[in-house]
Amino acid sequence: MDTESLMGDPFSVRIKEKIMDTENICTLNFQFPDDSKSIRPGQFLMVWIPGVDEIPMSISYWEPPILGINVQPIGPATNALVTLEKGDWIGVRGPFGSHFDLDSRDALVIGGGIGMAPLRFLTNSLLKQGTHVVLLIAARTKDDLLLYDYSSSDQLEVKFATDDGSLGFKGFATDAAKEIIPEHSFDMIYACGPELMMAGLFNILQDKDIPFQFSLERYMKCGCGICGTCAMDPDGVLVCIEGPVFTKSEISRLSEFGMYSRDSTGVKKKCGH
Ligand SMILES: Cc1cc2nc3c(=O)[nH]c(=O)nc-3n(C[C@H](O)[C@H](O)[C@H](O)COP(=O)(O)OP(=O)(O)OC[C@H]3O[C@@H](n4cnc5c(N)ncnc54)[C@H](O)[C@@H]3O)c2cc1C
Ligand code: FES
Repeated sequence: MDTESLMGDPFSVRIKEKIMDTENICTLNFQFPDDSKSIRPGQFLMVWIPGVDEIPMSISYWEPPILGINVQPIGPATNALVTLEKGDWIGVRGPFGSHFDLDSRDALVIGGGIGMAPLRFLTNSLLKQGTHVVLLIAARTKDDLLLYDYSSSDQLEVKFATDDGSLGFKGFATDAAKEIIPEHSFDMIYACGPELMMAGLFNILQDKDIPFQFSLERYMKCGCGICGTCAMDPDGVLVCIEGPVFTKSEISRLSEFGMYSRDSTGVKKKCGH
């Protein structure tokens, strides 16, 4: 494939709506210009903030033609994104990457912090096809929980875990999951969040016969297999192409999972730092 096709058509889009999901995290909705593209839960866009940077952002909402991203401000690009308002312009390329396999009748979905972003699109898709979903939303405190407009029903059980116990289970998502899993007969577990959370889940699930899919994050410059910054040890698996969604057997082969990642220059940094 030539470089231009790999990179995806860049489009300028105008923000149609901005919603504050927590005090800091917002959803930016816009009209996705290419309705010929198939967009699947778990995929991401490269988002260009004029004059600042281009960064990967999960697709959090997709009701054609409206696409939404969820932004947590943590540095120059994300801080600039959250200050944008309705009517402002950004650039988008994509969608890129692998997607969640929706083959499940009884699913546990676990989102830690901003990891809930791709899981919103996933949860909506599972509910639409009739899957029963237990949704565990975790964050440091109740004010940081990405609740969106979910509430429990016959088909959806919404549970919370907060580190400080201000809402729901007091403790980490992993400890809450340990309690929830034996109470159900899940046929699939989906997770996205801090890598230490997913490494903990991996350990809990290793000896259980439940398939799972986790969405991972690595530093991404191109988003489409050209630059190599998102490669994972030991085989150089490219997270932007073969991920960000990986299955149990794929994750088992990634020796750096839960241990370290790399910064923009390729220097290793320990997970959680
Ligand atoms: C597939 C994928 C999906 C993501 N989805 C979301 C999302 O839905 N919402 C959200 O708020 N964030 C998401 N992120 C993380 C987001 O891309 C980074 O927070 C953002 O790039 C930080 O840039 P900055 O300039 O604001 O901060 P910086 O100060 O530059 O960096 C802060 C942190 O973000 C990491 N980071 C910086 N640039 C990148 C980059 N190009 N690629 C990956 N990590 C980077 C750095 O390693 C550092 O740990 C996603 C990342 C990936 C890889
Ligand atoms: S981000 Fe460039 S190869 Fe993956």
